[in-house]
Amino acid sequence: MERVLVTGAAGYVGSVLVGHLLQRGYSVTALDNLHYRQCGLLSYAAHPSFDFVLGDARDERVMKDLAARHDAVLPLAAIVGAPACDRDPGLARSVNLDAIVLLNRLRSPSQKCVWPCTNSGYGTKSGEMHCTEDSPLEPISLYGTTKVQAEKELLSRGNAISLRLATVFGPSPRMRLDLLVNDFVYRAVRDRFLVLYEPHFKRNFVHIDDVAEAFLFGLEHFDGMKGEAYNVGLDDANLSKAELAERIRRQVPGLSIQVAEVGTDPDKRNYVVSNEKIRRRGFSARRSIDEGIRQLILLYRMLPAGPYGNV
Ligand SMILES: NC(=O)c1ccc[n+]([C@@H]2O[C@H](COP(=O)([O-])OP(=O)(O)OC[C@H]3O[C@@H](n4cnc5c(N)ncnc54)[C@H](O)[C@@H]3O)[C@@H](O)[C@H]2O)c1
Repeated sequence: MERVLVTGAAGYVGSVLVGHLLQRGYSVTALDNLHYRQCGLLSYAAHPSFDFVLGDARDERVMKDLAARHDAVLPLAAIVGAPACDRDPGLARSVNLDAIVLLNRLRSPSQKCVWPCTNSGYGTKSGEMHCTEDSPLEPISLYGTTKVQAEKELLSRGNAISLRLATVFGPSPRMRLDLLVNDFVYRAVRDRFLVLYEPHFKRNFVHIDDVAEAFLFGLEHFDGMKGEAYNVGLDDANLSKAELAERIRRQVPGLSIQVAEVGTDPDKRNYVVSNEKIRRRGFSARRSIDEGIRQLILLYRMLPAGPYGNV
């Protein structure tokens, strides 16, 4: 049984990924400092192949011992999103970058590493050009900068795959409402009202279960994929905010969509991404944006009010 260490496992992506790994027969150790007091991993406590370590991915003693005991590492721990990083830039640099430098020192050359980058590294393109993995990386936030630097570190050390994820959407035991699709559907359901800033700005999206499957694909096709970065997104979900809002209105009748006359979106991302490279290796995201919207509407009927996310 392959032993996998997942750092940041109690987060939005991690708490779904752990379930996919266990279901596929991996033995999983989850490490997290529970930075947001989240409890997305509780349902795995009964699983015989699951273990949890409350700890910090920057703690050399903890990480040295854990790295030595696992065949593969999926280092998800991070301060995620531009606002969260801007609130504490020192913390963001140390978790997003220094912890990766530390991991590089501790992991053995034979250990697999599959890591999530963000395609926000493509910055503010025209919104028309298709960004490939060869497009220049021009991150526009501290978050994007730390992730792009961490990718360079990981790939230069060898034996690593970088998955450049589109903006993730869909249900997780640890919800994040600060992600665009999750946020728009939440506002649509709760307020029946959406205000759009810069409605023509385009982004690429991917369902959280497809992200989990991309990690499994990376682990299972590691030798043929290692040493490179791969965009992971839905090909037919390079959508502008206005197009996304219209897709939501199809499932939330009566939704009012207003375009803001004044003000700008501080998040200037505007790009179209090609996912051709990973598709040629045999992986395609397959859960549609419409399916994700349907799931989110259902989830929000059950979600009590509260702060969910990294804001
Ligand atoms: N969600 C997305 O749209 C998206 C897109 C691209 C890349 N990613 C990447 O995926 C990963 C997971 O993102 P997420 O959406 O689940 O975010 P998240 O904030 O929900 O998860 C991050 C997790 O890291 C943990 N953490 C923070 N600092 C830590 C530390 N010092 N030691 C141990 N754990 C620590 C947090 O407690 C949290 O559980 C991140 O690396 C992120 O950059 C996410």
